[in-house]
Amino acid sequence: MTERKATNIVWHAGNVTRDDREKINGHKGFTVWFTGLSGSGKSTVAVAVEKALWDRGVRTYILDGDNIRHGLNANLGFSPEDRTENIRRIGEVAKLFNDAGLVALTAFISPYRADRDKVRALMGAGDFLEVHVDCPVEECEKRDVKGLYAKARAGQIKEFTGISAPYEAPEKAELTLPTHQLSEEQSVAKVISFLEEKGYIPRA
Ligand code: ADX
Repeated sequence: MTERKATNIVWHAGNVTRDDREKINGHKGFTVWFTGLSGSGKSTVAVAVEKALWDRGVRTYILDGDNIRHGLNANLGFSPEDRTENIRRIGEVAKLFNDAGLVALTAFISPYRADRDKVRALMGAGDFLEVHVDCPVEECEKRDVKGLYAKARAGQIKEFTGISAPYEAPEKAELTLPTHQLSEEQSVAKVISFLEEKGYIPRA
């Protein structure tokens, strides 16, 4: 738990519940947490899954590392402490989205198992679905979509995940997507059928 600095604060409940919001939306709120190396395909899959959900009338919102670091988390870097704080804040934001009855899709490297497990514990049972976007570092480096692996190899980026900073793979992910073996469509289909099978969304 992060230390709470404020004292004399009292929780104020509203009249509209999460249940009310989910009813009006016609589906539950939950979080699909994509984790994996830079360039593994987290954002690509999240964007495509969002479109597939949206087309079925599911209300969604994507929280993406590169985007969130432009604003909400602009004051955080890539030290272990800053990554932990990055993930803590995103866990809280995703929880708010779920409370609003929406589906949060998050795409953060989230390299530390303990940080991801804290988010899992923060959320209600069943609200956190960990999806390991499991692409070997050699393949991510070969793709090097943003040119960052080359920079990391050249020593221009310090603490780069997979090169000079660790990635702790999930041990209990709800789903694994080996994106070096699956097409984008196959990855999306895997996520959507998982959500259908487990009753998170109605069958098409
Ligand atoms: S996390 O580790 O804290 O979860 P996050 O997903 O928010 O990372 O941001 C990762 C993105 O930041 C990468 O996709 C990449 O574009 C960029 N980036 C810049 N520096 C680094 C670094 N040292 N390690 C990893 N990613 C970095």
